[in-house]
Amino acid sequence: MNDLLLRTLRCEPTPRRPLWIMRQAGRYLPEYRALKEQYTFLQLAGDPDLAARVTMLPFEHFALDAAIVFADLLSPAASLGLEVDFKPGPVLAKPLRTAEAIRRLPLPSGEEVAPEVPATLRLVKEQLAGRANLIGFAGAPLSLAAYLVEGQGSKAAYPRLRGLLLEDPVLFGDLLAHLAETNTRFLLAQHAAGADCVQVFESWAGLLPRSLWRVHVRPHLEAMLTELGRAGVPRILFAHDAGHLIEELATLPADALAVDWRVDLAELRTELGPERAVQGNLDPAALLAGPETTVRAARALLESVPARGHVVNLGHGILPEVPLESVHALVETVRAEESPTG
Ligand code: CP3
Repeated sequence: MNDLLLRTLRCEPTPRRPLWIMRQAGRYLPEYRALKEQYTFLQLAGDPDLAARVTMLPFEHFALDAAIVFADLLSPAASLGLEVDFKPGPVLAKPLRTAEAIRRLPLPSGEEVAPEVPATLRLVKEQLAGRANLIGFAGAPLSLAAYLVEGQGSKAAYPRLRGLLLEDPVLFGDLLAHLAETNTRFLLAQHAAGADCVQVFESWAGLLPRSLWRVHVRPHLEAMLTELGRAGVPRILFAHDAGHLIEELATLPADALAVDWRVDLAELRTELGPERAVQGNLDPAALLAGPETTVRAARALLESVPARGHVVNLGHGILPEVPLESVHALVETVRAEESPTG
């Protein structure tokens, strides 16, 4: 039984650090690209058999310590009555642009939110057979709201979402509370279906200044993490582009804090203290540069961050152009740390 990830989230000593890779089941894998010739992203993620197959693809190449269920940040949208297509990023047929549309959102039960995801987790749990821990995930309320209100990815930092906050902070708060409750239920259902732990993606942490984030975003994220903690679900909080929020994030109830490559992980380790884990944060660009650069960057990371309570990962998703040799090099470098006495 490989429980390295769970033990590291509890900050227990382990023979070596666990490794998994954000977006590990994606376009850098030839088998994934082949499946995409045959199926759309929605077909792959919507069918538990196919989604389980995709979740397991990286294990045909690499001895990773965790699988993350193949789904998307926008997977809960359908249960909120919102239609999404992937081109390849999510595009909503009807973005949430009016108070009426927001107030009309249904509140699904845990079983109603993207039921294909718990179904996939059940299959993957069996297929993993204890080889690796299993991770469920969902978006933080702000990051989900960003897409639902804007309607698609935005290079201009989601001005419609920021506009909604400035125009009607009460409505903005109601929306975030609704999404926090929906995704809490979703994550509890994923845990019940076999996810050993969950990762909450705050991919758009960088949209707001700290003063606004603390008042209008933090309470909803905190409620979500608190409720999961009460249910005994181990929680990883990933925050992208959140250097200005570190002091806020450090006091949120998550078992591990995951950050992108811009944050000094050794400093964060010190700031969090010995009871909470950190995750990350190799620059995805190192893997793009090739295996030698990957080994050098990975060794520098391992040397700078103490092993206990460190989950090795990238600072953001693996890029589609990364050669498999770089991933092999990363896996070997992390596993080479294993102490012969265990
Ligand atoms: O990590 C994994 O391997 C699990 C699968 C996973 C996907 N999306 C599959 C996917 C996860 C964890 C996500 C989360 C997600 N989705 C986030 C949060 C993580 C982050 O990057 O900060 C966000 C912001 C999204 C929204 C999204 N979905 C975008 C922007 C895109 C298109 C561009 C891209 O980055 O790939 C998607 C589509 C998507 N989700 C793909 C995959 C494999 C690509 C679809 C394709 O193959 O055409």
